[in-house]
Amino acid sequence: MAFDIDIIKKVYSQMAERVDAARDVVGKPLTLSEKILYNHLWDGTPKTAFTRGKDYVDFAPDRIACQDATAQMALLQFMQAGKDKVAVPTTVHCDHLIQAKDGAEKDLKHANDVSKEVFEFLESVSNKYGIGFWKPGAGIIHQVVLENYAFPGGMMIGTDSHTVNAGGLGMVAIGVGGADAVDVMAGMAWELKFPKLIGVKLTGKLSGWTAPKDVILKVAEILTVKGGTGAIVEYFGPGATSMSCTGKGTICNMGAEIGATTSTFGYDDSMERYLRATDRSDVADAANKVREYLTADPEVYANPEQYFDQVIEINLSELNPLLNGPFTPDLSTPAGKEMTKKATDNDWPLQVEWGLIGSCTNSSYEDLSRASSIAQQALDKKLKTKAEFGINPGSEQVRYTTERDGILEIFEKLDATIFTNACGPCIGQWARYSDPKNAPKNSIVHSFNRNFAKRADGNPNTHAFVASPELTAAIAIAGRLDFNPMTDKLINEDGEEVMLDEPTGWELPPKGFEVKENGYLEPREDGSSVVVKVADDSERLQLLTPFTPIGDSITGAKLLIKAFGKCTTDHISMAGPWLRFRGHLDNISNNCLIGAVNAYNKKTNFVKNQLTGEYGGVPDTQREYKKEGIWTVVVGDHNYGEGSSREHAAMEPRHLGVAAVIVKSFARIHETNLKKQGMLGLTFDNEADYDLIQEDDTFNFLDLNEFAPNKPLHIEVVHSDGSKDTIKVNHTYNEAQIEWYKAGSALNLIAAQNA
Ligand code: F3S
Repeated sequence: MAFDIDIIKKVYSQMAERVDAARDVVGKPLTLSEKILYNHLWDGTPKTAFTRGKDYVDFAPDRIACQDATAQMALLQFMQAGKDKVAVPTTVHCDHLIQAKDGAEKDLKHANDVSKEVFEFLESVSNKYGIGFWKPGAGIIHQVVLENYAFPGGMMIGTDSHTVNAGGLGMVAIGVGGADAVDVMAGMAWELKFPKLIGVKLTGKLSGWTAPKDVILKVAEILTVKGGTGAIVEYFGPGATSMSCTGKGTICNMGAEIGATTSTFGYDDSMERYLRATDRSDVADAANKVREYLTADPEVYANPEQYFDQVIEINLSELNPLLNGPFTPDLSTPAGKEMTKKATDNDWPLQVEWGLIGSCTNSSYEDLSRASSIAQQALDKKLKTKAEFGINPGSEQVRYTTERDGILEIFEKLDATIFTNACGPCIGQWARYSDPKNAPKNSIVHSFNRNFAKRADGNPNTHAFVASPELTAAIAIAGRLDFNPMTDKLINEDGEEVMLDEPTGWELPPKGFEVKENGYLEPREDGSSVVVKVADDSERLQLLTPFTPIGDSITGAKLLIKAFGKCTTDHISMAGPWLRFRGHLDNISNNCLIGAVNAYNKKTNFVKNQLTGEYGGVPDTQREYKKEGIWTVVVGDHNYGEGSSREHAAMEPRHLGVAAVIVKSFARIHETNLKKQGMLGLTFDNEADYDLIQEDDTFNFLDLNEFAPNKPLHIEVVHSDGSKDTIKVNHTYNEAQIEWYKAGSALNLIAAQNA
């Protein structure tokens, strides 16, 4: 179930009919992105054209990937669906929960100790429900997906924002919240707003010190961190086909940093080479038979302005190696003198303390081999490395092969620390300091993707710059942020001036990939006897119990909080230290709405308990109401629930007994998440009614028994002086979603249908 060539063949076999039908309904030649999207419609052969950036469309993804942090709640929810197996091939990858400190061996052992129960839980659920399981140390989700599962023309979703990496192998691969993944695992459609399309034409050829990383660093400079929002970025042109498949993966990976829905490339020889090198000649053979469907129609790339919403052109021959940062991935500076000035003007430390190479973005064989060619020169030219080196290979296959080929040994001779094949320093899982909050100001360079404050090591004073692996290596050797390897000399141990030559490397291992134990566990064919392991006294995991339906009569509900201003999913369910409890709904519910600002006192986590008249934290107050069997209402402002799609922001209020969220407007994903959890997500018909709501209000729903699509509801709001207002509220529930509400949640309904 984890890898299925038959599924790929099915996707290809239906491609001609569906893509041709799409071309007819759209009425013009199609981009690659449109071909993939129209070939994955939930309703089959396209019958109508969709408007980009407007229409919500149901899709049928080919596969799902989950990482260990987000998989916990996703799988706990899936277990409630009453299914024997996941409906779509799914894999779980243990990569986020492994801290980098002393090097791979010790760090992996430590992670296996401290997160044992989480790994065992994920392994047992995977085994039970037909999910492929990649053990801690097997590799980073996106590198493992590229090596094993991605295929040209496919569509996948993953519970991680860098799922987009698989665009390097010609997929439309999109990062989603756990709730979306659960829907697809349970056999439901996946909804997405039909994306806009940005075309990036690459001309010329990379050479010398420039690398695929510089392409995306340049695109980030042009489009900024928001420029790709709601769009698929499609790369094409001679510059695209001249790059390696893993280089394309790097470019697609960092599409997340410009907010793009995803990025992709057309099928070409580099992808075929990669598929064959990773033991998937069957996929390459199948792809070759439908080659013309795995790239745009020829007219599109000839006249891109006519077919894309926006077109950018980059000449790779003119591109310079770039450093992006600090604190944002779109702030570009060419290596060298310009950096001297910028760093001095902005007080960025010029001395570099660490060079980190790896992460899901840049941990391919090609990346490590090119960076090692620079490291080898440091040894040959008797240079003393000024900064420390850290390497985290993307997968055990890459690690094993690079070790066999002597690549890792080169770094080790420079005293590099080889970390586990895992996320480590890319996600703040780097035990660099004992007290990161008070650690000194410093600069680091890495080949990762994100460089927000505290992202790598928890130190708000670490200035992180993003660069290609080869430039990262050169800068770590020189120890200066403004080192330009193309022009600057270094002094070696003998006092001689030396220069670094251009990097060299291999796109793919000349002796082929090799791995002894790749860390993969195939699930049992019949998992019915597998027992899912969760200890009763676990702090981090808790099996879910189905939510009880709220019902068609809500009276005497109390106001829990009227949120003032911005209320994102982070205000509703904070991240940071709370992430430890993301598999334990009751424990993580202690962060419920603690970031929301109370409209009556402008304080956070300080609301009135109407039963006692006392003020307290939101979760504690809500638990008091729940104890008394009293439903509550949350009131909010505009765009309530914007931000990350985390399902906890809907599950926590539901778990604690909030019946309805009434706001001026919702962020759509959060609104849908509330519906999925069987709650009421409502909007004021008259926005000014927000001002009517007072701190001691009680709510009586007047016509909930007539809950129906396109029919507003009415609520009597009783104020503390006995006066009353009746307000009209709107909703966007369709018939199916009203059934979710009546069943207590979407999963309850699926479970009932499977019973
Ligand atoms: Fe992991 Fe960083 Fe990638 S957290 S999945 S290596 S973006």
